[in-house]
Amino acid sequence: MALDNKNNISVGKSHYQDSSFRQLTGRAEYIDDIPLSENTLHGALILSEIPSGMITSIETEKAKKFDPSITVITAKDIPGRNDIAPIFADEPIFAEKEVTYVGQPIGLIVASSMERARAAVNEVKIVYKKDKTPILDLDLAFKKKNFFLKPIHFERGKANEQIKQAPHKLKGSFSMGGQDHFYLETHIALAIPHENSEFTIWSSTQHPTEVQHGVSNVLNIPAAKISSKVRRLGGGFGGKESQSTIYAAIAALGAYILDKPVKLRLNRKDDMASSGKRHDFEVKYSVGFNKKGKIKGLDITLLSNAGNVCDLSAPVMSRALTHLDNCYSFKDFTARGYICKTNTVSNTAFRGFGGPQGMLAIETILERVSRFLGIDLDALRRENYYSPKNGIKTPYGQIVKNIKIEKIINEMETFAGLEKRKLLVERFNTSQINKNQPYRKGIAFMPAKFGISFNKVSLNQAGALVHVYTDGSVRLNHGGTEMGQGLFTKVAQVVSECFNIPLDYVHIAGTNTDEVPNTSATAASSGSDINGMAAWKAASVIKQRMLKHASKVFQKPPSSIEFKNGLILSGNKSMTFKELAFSCWENRISLSSTGFYKTPKISWDQEKFKGSPYFYFTWGAAVSEAIIDIDTGESRILRADIIQDCGSSLNPLIDRGQIEGGFIQGIGWLTCEELYFNPEGKLLTLGPSTYKIPGSRDVPPEFNIKLLENTPNEEKTIFRSKAVGEPPLLLSISHFLALKNAVSMASETSNADLLNAPATPSKILAAVHNDHSM
Ligand code: MTE
Ligand code: HPA
Ligand code: MOS
Repeated sequence: MALDNKNNISVGKSHYQDSSFRQLTGRAEYIDDIPLSENTLHGALILSEIPSGMITSIETEKAKKFDPSITVITAKDIPGRNDIAPIFADEPIFAEKEVTYVGQPIGLIVASSMERARAAVNEVKIVYKKDKTPILDLDLAFKKKNFFLKPIHFERGKANEQIKQAPHKLKGSFSMGGQDHFYLETHIALAIPHENSEFTIWSSTQHPTEVQHGVSNVLNIPAAKISSKVRRLGGGFGGKESQSTIYAAIAALGAYILDKPVKLRLNRKDDMASSGKRHDFEVKYSVGFNKKGKIKGLDITLLSNAGNVCDLSAPVMSRALTHLDNCYSFKDFTARGYICKTNTVSNTAFRGFGGPQGMLAIETILERVSRFLGIDLDALRRENYYSPKNGIKTPYGQIVKNIKIEKIINEMETFAGLEKRKLLVERFNTSQINKNQPYRKGIAFMPAKFGISFNKVSLNQAGALVHVYTDGSVRLNHGGTEMGQGLFTKVAQVVSECFNIPLDYVHIAGTNTDEVPNTSATAASSGSDINGMAAWKAASVIKQRMLKHASKVFQKPPSSIEFKNGLILSGNKSMTFKELAFSCWENRISLSSTGFYKTPKISWDQEKFKGSPYFYFTWGAAVSEAIIDIDTGESRILRADIIQDCGSSLNPLIDRGQIEGGFIQGIGWLTCEELYFNPEGKLLTLGPSTYKIPGSRDVPPEFNIKLLENTPNEEKTIFRSKAVGEPPLLLSISHFLALKNAVSMASETSNADLLNAPATPSKILAAVHNDHSM
């Protein structure tokens, strides 16, 4: 395989995401656009109104009188298992006796239209026996030792001894909020029954195979009869990694019982109330260090809010814990992770998958240490970076190879002029203070290292199916799903490169468990790494057969034959790709192949919390400049400079899009997106009027992005590229640090320690005024 992309036909070039024009013009089909047969019915969910308690009765008489045509479906109607848990068996699709959060599905109403189904839901009355002591937050769950699984504990060296002996120490805690995915397309599924207990399930899911399994379990029908499909998602961001399954299974249950197609499309309110979010975390730490800021010992405890069921909370915690080190070598290190069980919605995967929480934890600690010592945060970082001198082994045992920190810092200095701008920011603040004006600026750098691979070894596998037709067109299927990240385009580029045919010869088909079975979720940013490689392998098998046949036709050795831009060349002989495909068919040569890939070199022992879970690391850095108004607490980002390592990028344009989107999504998490649960455990921020996602004015007016130069992946990934989907989100921590920097310069009494994420205006004000009541 070519390792550089200089002479490539497709790979390494900036192609548009294949359906972008169709999306722009409304021609791209989402599940809600699929034409329905006349007998299709529509569902609406009956959701729990209390956080914890027992269901005494579900009263549906009024609803049935209101609309006699409706059907009410509850747990007792399930023919198979009432469980769709991705890992541990504890996740009912419908609460049966006990409810465990406000918003939990209890039943489904099926009617002739969505409006009628939703109207009927309002007529259902549930009688509960309320539990008087629901656990609604992390602190209480921790106090009551209400955990999922055994707490994780791992250590390297002797952190607490080192902290005791260190010249300086700090101890403290802080918290960070969750985040709703706010994909534009809410959860949706369309279930269609066929003869002989076969079902087609269209589901907006990152994980069609899990939808297939979930439906199979709930209906008690073999997986082979369930065909799970999706052409594209209107955004997933992790929210549809495991949690689409429940809605798909509910729609399938309706279709099974009524023997008609059933569509379930959630409105925003039901989507936000019933589906999980990014985990909010609490961090407790003690740290010992010398006067230059070299960390001597570090003891960190992470609490995550898993919500009512475990879902993906265990691997999320593992990723948080394996990202606490970020770019720093800590020799004496202890960490604990408590996955707290609460009576709130079950939190789940969200871009970064715990990594952002782990990294915000360590960056906040280092920022506190730097302020305590009165030294520059970047000088402190330099004392601690992974390097041959400081050490290259992570606390969990993986060796950090091919460290790019210095390269990035150097490129960033030219790119962003950080050191000079730090002085300008200080000068601006002094002049504001002197003039008694309310503005303060802050600036911060943030390096990030992100581990690529699912941190569960078995998930790192992918399959693909490639057909070449006799007209020279190619159909491509693989296990990955398209959610806007451009995966389909990248994998098509790989296949086009393999045959050296123009990209538009390759037809990108939707994801489908009939064609490529037993797939992993499109997640952990590994979509193009693993599906790209599987597709390459499938296409290579066919190409070898075609080459052998061409050699016969031309009567030349295969080594003399070149596939070039849709032609097959050998000396002065040539034919088109189409002619060769047709000739292969005439000579009874198979033009179809599967491909399979598993990520090499990875190992992980979850019990011991040791191993090398990541095939490689991606590197990146950002500089953010922020401004705050100390009278109102409002803030803005003025400028961001980002350098991201994409290896040899498969598609620089798409990678830039991922970097922009990921960074801004992270800014949302850290500044304006605030989930508010009332004291009864009910989420009140259920739509865009109360839950603020970043808008166009939150994009930095000066936004400079570049891909790290000349940096092919040292590991043998597809064309030496690197994953990009999640890592840029972590870089938004630079903006949070810039806000802290601004607060710390606000006045002599301001207290940046008080600034927890999200840094909303009220939190910024509280920190500026050292007001502990927030
Ligand atoms: N980009 C868009 N536009 N929409 C999405 O839903 N999801 C992100 C990221 N980028 C997402 C996205 C998440 S959480 C992951 S894990 C990766 O894309 C998954 O796709 P990949 O593995 O192909 O990068
Ligand atoms: N990322 C996303 N999903 C996952 C992971 C991960 O690291 N591990 C298990 N499921
Ligand atoms: Mo992404 S959070 O791994 O779906």
